[in-house]
Amino acid sequence: MGTVQLKTEIPGPKGRSLAARREKSVVDGHASVSPIFAAKAEGATITDVDGNVFIDFAGGIGAMNSGHRHPAVVGEIDRQIHDYAHLCFTVTPYEPYVALAEKLNDITPGDFLKKTLLVNSGAEALENAVKVARYWTNRSSAIVFEHAFHGRSLMTMALTYKEMPYKHGFGPFPDVIQRLPYPFNRGKEALAQFDALLEEKGDEAFAAVIIELVAGEGGFMPVDKSFLAHVRKRCSEHNIVLIVDEVQTGFGRTGRMFASEVYNLEPDIICMAKSMSGGLPLSAVTGKAEMMDKVHAGGLGGTFGGNPVACRGAMAAIAVLEELEQSGRMAKLADKVTSRFCAIAEKSSFVKEARGLGAMYSLDICDDTFKKAPSKERAEKVLHNCLADGLLMILAGTGGNVIRTLMPLTISDGELEEGMSILEKNILVLS
Ligand SMILES: Cc1ncc(COP(=O)(O)O)c(C=O)c1O
Repeated sequence: MGTVQLKTEIPGPKGRSLAARREKSVVDGHASVSPIFAAKAEGATITDVDGNVFIDFAGGIGAMNSGHRHPAVVGEIDRQIHDYAHLCFTVTPYEPYVALAEKLNDITPGDFLKKTLLVNSGAEALENAVKVARYWTNRSSAIVFEHAFHGRSLMTMALTYKEMPYKHGFGPFPDVIQRLPYPFNRGKEALAQFDALLEEKGDEAFAAVIIELVAGEGGFMPVDKSFLAHVRKRCSEHNIVLIVDEVQTGFGRTGRMFASEVYNLEPDIICMAKSMSGGLPLSAVTGKAEMMDKVHAGGLGGTFGGNPVACRGAMAAIAVLEELEQSGRMAKLADKVTSRFCAIAEKSSFVKEARGLGAMYSLDICDDTFKKAPSKERAEKVLHNCLADGLLMILAGTGGNVIRTLMPLTISDGELEEGMSILEKNILVLS
C-alpha cells in the first residue's frame, strides 16, 4: 500500500468548516495555496483534519528539510522548553544561542573568522545584513537582481522584484536599489551591465550586492558560475559586501549544505532561515567577523531573536542534515530529483524546461504555442489535480507558472517515487 490515503473529497467536511471560520477571522491578505487544513505532519507526509494523508513536496516552503517532527528535533525542543522558553538574549544570555552561532560560523563556507547574529525570519536576516553592510562601508545602495525574492518587510520589498503580490500598493520603497538582469541564461549580459554600473556610479557607490544562488520564488534558476566568480572578485576589489541569500537554498536543498559550496563561493555574509531550525521561526546572519562586529552594541538584536527553543531545534536539525550529507543520502536524493524532473520534462509537450540545482528542481509550465508562453493556469491545474491525488506541491516564478519541489530531504525512496508518479501522471494527462 502506498503512503497516500484519501478518505474524503478534498477538502473534506472538517476542512470546509474551518475554511468558513477562517474566512471570517483571518485577513484575506494572508492567502493559502491549498484548501486543506493540517492536523498532523510526520516525516514527508501531512494528514489533514479529515484524515487524508498527503505526500509533502512543499515542506512548509522549504523549511522542513530535516522532516516534520524529526524525533531528534522534537527531543531537543522538548528538553529546552522544560528549562526555559524565553529570556531575551539582550537581557539574559544563554548557551543555545552561543552554541548555534559557533556551529554556523563553523559550517558556513569561508575560511576566515566569522560572527553570527540570530533573528526571527528570512526577511529580518536580510534587513540586518543590509544594516551591517551599510555600517561597514558607510555607503547606502545595493545591487540586486530581477526575479529576486528577499522578503516582505519594507527594505526587503525594495530588494524583491515581483510587483504583484509582494510590492503592489505598499510603496514608496527605499530608493537605494540598482537592479540587474538575473544571471541565468543571461550571464554575459548581466556581467556587462554590472561592470557598466560600477563604471557609471563609481567604486564607492555600493554597500552590497545581494543575490540568491538559485532564484527561489523567482523560478528556480541557478546563477551563472562565471558571473558569480566575477562579482566575487569585483566586490573584494571595491569593498562591496557580497551578501548571499541562502534562505531557501541553504541546509541541503541543492545537494550540499549550502549552495555557496556548489559554486565554490565564499560570501562575505550569508543569510539563513527556513530549514535551519526544524520548523521553528529562526534566522541567522553569519559573516566576516570584522564586518559583523563593526556595529555598535545595541545596534542589532530583538526580543525573540535567537529564541532558545528554536536554537536547540536548529542544532538538532543541522545534525540530522549533516548526517544526510555525510552518508551521501543528500547528494543521492539531489540526483534522483534532478533526473526524475528532467525525464518528466522530456515527455511533456508543455514543459518548457526542467531546471534547478540538486533537490531544488522545477518544471517551467507553458502553453502549447511555438513560442511557449508561461501558463500559470495550466500549472495551477496540475497542482490542483496532484492535490486531489494526494500530493502537495507549490508554484514559483515571476509568471507564477513554475512547479517547484521542496520536499523534506528525509523522504523515503518509496514516498519520493509515489509523489513523482503522481506528478508525472498529472503532467502527462494534460500533455
Ligand atoms: C530566498 C529568500 N529570501 C528571503 C525570504 C524571506 O523569508 P521569510 O518569509 O522567513 O521572511 C524567502 C522566503 O521565501 C526566500 O525564499
